Amino acid sequence: MAAEEQEEQEEGGKRPQFGNRQLRDPSRVFQHNAWDNVEWSNEQESAAYQKVQENSSQLVPPEKQEEYESKANGFWDAFYTIHENRFFKDRHWLFTEFPELASPSGGRRCPDGHVTEGGTGGDAHPKEVQAEICRGLRDMGLGEGAFPGETASYRIMEVGCGVGNTVFPILQNNPDPGLFVYGCDFSSTAVELVKSNPHYDPSRCLAFVHDLSDERASYPMPEQSLDVIVLIFVLSAVLPNKMQSAVSRLSRLLKPGGSLLLRDYGRYDMAQLRFKKGRCLSDNFYVRGDGTRVYFFTQDELGVLFTSAGLETVQNVADRRLQVNRGKQLTMYRVWIQCKYRKPRDAAQQGNRAP
Ligand SMILES: C[S@@+](CC[C@H](N)C(=O)[O-])C[C@H]1O[C@@H](n2cnc3c(N)ncnc32)[C@H](O)[C@@H]1O
Repeated sequence: MAAEEQEEQEEGGKRPQFGNRQLRDPSRVFQHNAWDNVEWSNEQESAAYQKVQENSSQLVPPEKQEEYESKANGFWDAFYTIHENRFFKDRHWLFTEFPELASPSGGRRCPDGHVTEGGTGGDAHPKEVQAEICRGLRDMGLGEGAFPGETASYRIMEVGCGVGNTVFPILQNNPDPGLFVYGCDFSSTAVELVKSNPHYDPSRCLAFVHDLSDERASYPMPEQSLDVIVLIFVLSAVLPNKMQSAVSRLSRLLKPGGSLLLRDYGRYDMAQLRFKKGRCLSDNFYVRGDGTRVYFFTQDELGVLFTSAGLETVQNVADRRLQVNRGKQLTMYRVWIQCKYRKPRDAAQQGNRAP
């Protein structure tokens, strides 16, 4: 699986925003590691369609399908037991693509309500003073509330956080003392790896075990309490007929104006075309050799999932990339979908609204 997620590997470390490097002269294809916004010809599209028809012509038997669903977290536990933190990626693209993760739009605030940079109105403490106040309140046991992170003014949750590929960069890049980051995953092995990371700071974050597809499982925060929810290569791992209710539950956690950010596999991505016959579970849903599963989305399918959950479209793009292995002179066509959806500011007020 790790090999499929080479989207982070970029020359020179820093990653420009996606979409900036176009291949105009095909003879230059091996001069860079990746090309953005690659146009697919009709022939290429129909060859991909054919390949998918072939590799999905024989489905995994129902009893095996049941096992992949009922033991889904166990397969991911096994994955993390083998790979541990080697699955860790330094994702340079996170903050260029999703600036919402780098700094809150509403200004920086600490639990006593004072606003610092970027905010409108309110008394401003200098940053160091503000951090000291927040620390002091927490040390005194004040500032802790009915749910973890209650006193924070900007709350981000990553669902399917794995070993913290998004959680830790956010904590490191966003110094806002009012920030609180939640990371959940249904693999207890992954959550343990997050908690044992030296950057794990319980005063700024909480990692917990949670199955996104389990409608009986509750989240540790109230409805309308989150500013941002992040789904990176996780929704694709959920049984397709459980996706809508999972997304609708997440939508309820967002504050009005809050954002849901997603990056995930797109239809006809190289990883889909590489599956052999006998690995298909249902249309565009496959099981890998290690028992973990993956769905390949179209933009429209994601649009329907999010808008049916009451969210508005901010961005829904297909990132069609040509990755190049210059050593082996190989080309790989990748398709990822990137979405931003927002909860309308006038969303009906339901449940308890957090500050
Ligand atoms: C491809 S990994 C991505 C991990 C992380 N988001 C990242 O980008 O590095 C998918 C993650 O989703 C988790 N996952 C899969 N299904 C899940 C579910 N139903 N509930 C919660 N987490 C799930 C897996 O355990 C795994 O950590």
